[in-house]
Amino acid sequence: MLSKKMLKILNEQVSKEAYASQLYLSMASWAETRGMAGIASWFYAQSDEERGHMMKFILFINERGGHAEVPKIDQPPKDFPGVREVFDASLEHEQMVTAAINDIVSLSLNEKDYATHNWIQWFVDEQMEEEASVQGVIDKLALLGSNNLYLFDRDILSMRETGEGE
Ligand code: FEO
Repeated sequence: MLSKKMLKILNEQVSKEAYASQLYLSMASWAETRGMAGIASWFYAQSDEERGHMMKFILFINERGGHAEVPKIDQPPKDFPGVREVFDASLEHEQMVTAAINDIVSLSLNEKDYATHNWIQWFVDEQMEEEASVQGVIDKLALLGSNNLYLFDRDILSMRETGEGE
């Protein structure tokens, strides 16, 4: 059984994952309308992954006797100054999510809730991978420079296809 405090923080995480999914969907749509199919495909896939994360939290909460609440989601920004800014914002968002996951880890240890502690480890690994993968894209972008967006866009498409960016 989840404590009240744990239920609250897990439900807050449902909301954070749902917002991440919307944010990446908005980034995908922004890129697609500017002819950047590779970047759009990257963010569509990211958005799906975030929805998957949200679902994991919902199912876990309910399995542990809580009631997962489906949140109202804020509208994400629809315009972005440029490709670099989109990836920077994505990294910043992942770092915020990592901090939130770490808070759940801390609470689970404080409460000696080892079932949650064990379950949340998947997210600890996932956050490490996600931050590394966005950082990898930013490094590549820095290397190619913004004059070469066409090449970058094609490159990121192949990163997704080969699983390099996951
Ligand atoms: Fe589900 Fe990328 O945090």
